[in-house]
Amino acid sequence: MYRLFQLEADLNIKAKVGSGGDRPTTTVVLAMSVDGKIADTSRAAARFGSAHDKAHLEQQVAQADGVLLGAGTLRAYGTTLRVVQSGLLEQRQQQGKPLQPVQIVCSRSATIDPQFPFFRQPVPRWLLTTTAGAQQWQGGEDFERILAVETATGKIDWQAAFQQLWTLGLKNLAVLGGGTLVASLLEADLVDELWLTVCPLLLGGATAPTPIDGVGLMTALAPRLQLLEARTIDDEVFLHYQVRRFEI
Ligand SMILES: NC(=O)c1ccc[n+]([C@@H]2O[C@H](COP(=O)([O-])OP(=O)(O)OC[C@H]3O[C@@H](n4cnc5c(N)ncnc54)[C@H](OP(=O)(O)O)[C@@H]3O)[C@@H](O)[C@H]2O)c1
Repeated sequence: MYRLFQLEADLNIKAKVGSGGDRPTTTVVLAMSVDGKIADTSRAAARFGSAHDKAHLEQQVAQADGVLLGAGTLRAYGTTLRVVQSGLLEQRQQQGKPLQPVQIVCSRSATIDPQFPFFRQPVPRWLLTTTAGAQQWQGGEDFERILAVETATGKIDWQAAFQQLWTLGLKNLAVLGGGTLVASLLEADLVDELWLTVCPLLLGGATAPTPIDGVGLMTALAPRLQLLEARTIDDEVFLHYQVRRFEI
């Protein structure tokens, strides 16, 4: 079978890290069951992580300039995760950052219930959508900023969107899912790191969401990862990976 690491050796390709400095770096943060599901087949909010996992997620959010979440995740939870721990708030203050990272909802349709508690949370909210999606929210106060960045075929143009986010001062993003959004970012080669918490349960179900949904990748073309760190707390394992990039 064809192996990417063989190609690396043959062509003297070097692993490269990071974004190169013209777009925000991204860290995907997800909790999954031992069998690799991020929710059950009802696609309801996933609340199977421990208090340690919640604190870990909050820590990742506290390090970010912005948080990206897909509309499906917002529809499942109705809220987002904001920084509340006093130590983390102080840390952001000392770093000269706003107390909360910007929460950026990604949605092609922008069909989101304005009654969600999310719209009453004390966080800055942006919408990343298409021209058609932007129309229904323009002129309102629910989103501080609406970015409509689309391709000729009416899809979100991720490269252009990330350049805009960089220009707007967002240097690093925490991506809180779900699997549809993460698959789009991976396809656009915009995922730099992943934190996956393996939680001690089995969910099963062919249609249950996974960290990377979308159409999937053939093994030969699958991004390779480097394990940066693995921590165990009680029955959970916290895995930190970096996506390997290659340059000749
Ligand atoms: N365990 C965890 O850590 C975790 C974390 C997050 C979510 N989840 C679970 O994941 C499930 C939701 O996953 P999901 O895959 O359905 O949701 P998702 O990725 O959050 O959202 C999918 C929606 O986001 C928008 N979107 C995503 N990629 C897009 C793209 N490339 N272009 C335009 N719009 C895009 C679309 O919105 P429109 O349809 O509005 O166009 C799409 O329908 C829920 O069950 C939730 O509980 C689990």
